[in-house]
Amino acid sequence: MTVSAPFAIRGRTLAFKADPFRVPVEDAVSANDDGAVVVRDGKIVEVGPAHEVLAHHPGVAVEAYGPDALIMAGFVDSHAHYPQLEIIGSYGEQLLEWLETYTFPTETKYADFQYARAGAETYLDLALSNGITSASVFSATYPASVDALFEGALARGMRIVTGKNLMDRNCPVALRDTAVGGYEQSEALIAKWHGKGRLTYAVTPRFAVTSTPEQLESAGALWRAHPTTLMQTHMSENHAEIRWVRELYPEAPDYLGAYEAFGLIGEGANFGHCIHLTEREIARLKETGSAISHCPTSNAFIGSGLFDMQGLRDCDDPIRVGLATDIGGGSSLSMFDTMKAAYEIAQLRGYSLHPIKAFWLATVGSAGALRMDGKVGNLAAGYEADIVVLDLHSTPIVRRRMREADSLSEALFIQMILADDRAVRATYVAGRKLHDRDQTHVDR
Ligand code: GUN
Ligand code: ZN
Repeated sequence: MTVSAPFAIRGRTLAFKADPFRVPVEDAVSANDDGAVVVRDGKIVEVGPAHEVLAHHPGVAVEAYGPDALIMAGFVDSHAHYPQLEIIGSYGEQLLEWLETYTFPTETKYADFQYARAGAETYLDLALSNGITSASVFSATYPASVDALFEGALARGMRIVTGKNLMDRNCPVALRDTAVGGYEQSEALIAKWHGKGRLTYAVTPRFAVTSTPEQLESAGALWRAHPTTLMQTHMSENHAEIRWVRELYPEAPDYLGAYEAFGLIGEGANFGHCIHLTEREIARLKETGSAISHCPTSNAFIGSGLFDMQGLRDCDDPIRVGLATDIGGGSSLSMFDTMKAAYEIAQLRGYSLHPIKAFWLATVGSAGALRMDGKVGNLAAGYEADIVVLDLHSTPIVRRRMREADSLSEALFIQMILADDRAVRATYVAGRKLHDRDQTHVDR
């Protein structure tokens, strides 16, 4: 991390001091109407009321954003596919047909490093302009597609997770690897990238449908051989998919059982979707400390179903849940849209997702799902300075609606329902401003 002069960001600040699913929501937040965050060498040094914090750092340079700005941790997207950015918003089809029609043909283009690099650059810059500072991302089968994303993330200093898709059946030949070849390619990528800068490798069996048992076995062995890597995959998204997994893995008690048989479960495992879980699967996810990524715009857009946020989080022994765009099955790169869709899906199940819970999921929750707790996802001394500055009055409708807001919760709810990337005034990554809405040139 580069050594740089300390500076302060001043405006309203929002941080979390507890899990709002476990304590009354008001007790979970720590907010200052006139707050400041001091950053030094890429880390947060102090957060609090501006008059106190600035008194502790006399002469520090201050970037003052004013009372309409909310300073908070950068958003963390716990599940996305960067090659799918170019097919976002493709018409029709449910999961398996959507994969065949749009996704697989597109991903074959990512064998080419130059093509992949252009896609990775676009993805990373769009993530930053949406206030997303960290993400767990699927690349394609090809090592070049992983190189392209990690190279771009390293240049930006971003905390990014990715891995090459392991897929050796039920997909176009051009996308297939083999159990042995996939292991070797993944291991070479781990040696090249894992732990470099802020990068993390994830062992990435795409989903049980596209891997033979031999490949899941080798993925389990790979993860055991490299225990500091993460493991990401998909699970229980769609009924036809679940039926297919039952046929492909007749010995397994359920979908999770197919992964579990090969050790693909536990701390550091991140299962995308998890809409149609059985009681046994829920119990095993809890017992093993595995995480789920909730992908609400995707679940609505592909017609997959209604995630049970209340059942999985509002209970005595909640599962780690992150919030995720799942682009391009997801229809937006905005975490505002993602929080809005999470709210709407919960509403369709008779549960109203409180805005403080939604913002917590999009930051602390997602960071926890990626085992980055204590590093990113919150504003506190010692955290890495991944920070977003939101303009709470970004558009005419937001401005009008905000006139009626008389609490932090209301202000946050208005943002998650009505705001978009125009509300992202600035995005800092490890203390460097990499996106500035109002300037064309940023420090890169
Ligand atoms: N299941 C397996 N692959 C994918 C994918 O790329 N997107 C989604 N939404 N589900 C998947
Ligand atoms: Zn996905």
